[in-house]
Amino acid sequence: MNYSSVTGRLATLGSAKWEVHFTARAMAAAGESILEMTIGEPDIPPDPRLLEQVTRSLNSGRISYASGRCEPVLARALTEKYRKYRPTVTERNFLALPGAQTCLYTVIMAIAEAGDAILVGDPYYATYEGIIRASGAEPIFVPLRPENGFHMKAADLEAVITPKCRAVLINTPHNPTGAVLSAAEIAAIGQVCLRHNLWLISDEVYADMVYEGQFVTPFANPDLAEIVLSIGSVSKSFAAPGLRSGWVAAPEEFVDRCQPLAEAMLFGNQPFIADATAWGIANQLTTGREFGSHCLRRARLVEEALEGCNLLRLHRPEAGMFVLVDIGQTGMTSHNFAMALLQQERVAVMPGSSFGANLEGYLRLSLTTPDEVILEACQRLRNFAGRIRGR
Ligand SMILES: Cc1ncc(COP(=O)(O)O)c(C=O)c1O
Repeated sequence: MNYSSVTGRLATLGSAKWEVHFTARAMAAAGESILEMTIGEPDIPPDPRLLEQVTRSLNSGRISYASGRCEPVLARALTEKYRKYRPTVTERNFLALPGAQTCLYTVIMAIAEAGDAILVGDPYYATYEGIIRASGAEPIFVPLRPENGFHMKAADLEAVITPKCRAVLINTPHNPTGAVLSAAEIAAIGQVCLRHNLWLISDEVYADMVYEGQFVTPFANPDLAEIVLSIGSVSKSFAAPGLRSGWVAAPEEFVDRCQPLAEAMLFGNQPFIADATAWGIANQLTTGREFGSHCLRRARLVEEALEGCNLLRLHRPEAGMFVLVDIGQTGMTSHNFAMALLQQERVAVMPGSSFGANLEGYLRLSLTTPDEVILEACQRLRNFAGRIRGR
């Protein structure tokens, strides 16, 4: 039978990146005790009132077909939320979709196709490459440099732009590096986009998880009002990834053009999920901030636990639920290091190379496991590094 070329383009992107994680899961399923710090999922429960709202809404019959754009109740709540960034925003500026992932997919499908390119920082969130390639476009990577705290710099962006480029995809706060872009950095990136006629897509799913300082969205920059496509979701902010609720805040014309695409895929929204999302936004749930403060505490635990081990240097995150550990001094590739750590110490971490060529020489540790697990995993990491030093 025939398959379309998209299946081929995506075929090799998934499994190789997650080899350590899947091997760890297979070992655990076979009865081994593994300390898992690979993937990140909020390990605090959602606010019980959010779940009550879901039930209340379902019981009141909010399970019919609904708007393919954004349920009015959610559009109102989002308008209120985004007014603090841009006072002129209206309910016509929002498209609701099942999670930031579908938002990213829809947005890229709407602006790029074969022959085009999307600029994205390297390192990057593991699914970005697949989302871009699904559209037929190809990614062009902008180096995010450790000496800049992995922040995207306008000069690095401008240096790799080609006439094929249609958009810049930024992620702030950033997964996996925890970098949070400043207003000045965003303004400089935005000016590059304006000069080269590029959309500026901003993935902001960790917006509520900034440890110290302030989250800044390009949506708040009036110069960029016509080009910013800002994406948010409840997955981290309400610790509810399974709710699958996200949105795009964008120019009205962009939302008009995207709506048929979203409807072709989904045939409308889930009203009870829109109700719960609207309720959580209107009530300014603080779950994401609480989750962020857990992660900050755990990032500090990792830092203390690895202190003095010069083969393992922690990169301090500014936000989010991961820490990076620089293992460049060991001379091992991140994949070989992570595999050997799993086999010898039963600790599962992600190799940096899963998040782009620029993160070779790093490990990504998830902070969504209990403190005792983190401490024990760090001790085993030190033991492993100690054996490398002794070789
Ligand atoms: C940077 C980034 N973007 C998007 C997503 C997907 O978010 P959602 O659950 O809202 O689809 C994740 C999930 O971990 C993420 O880390």
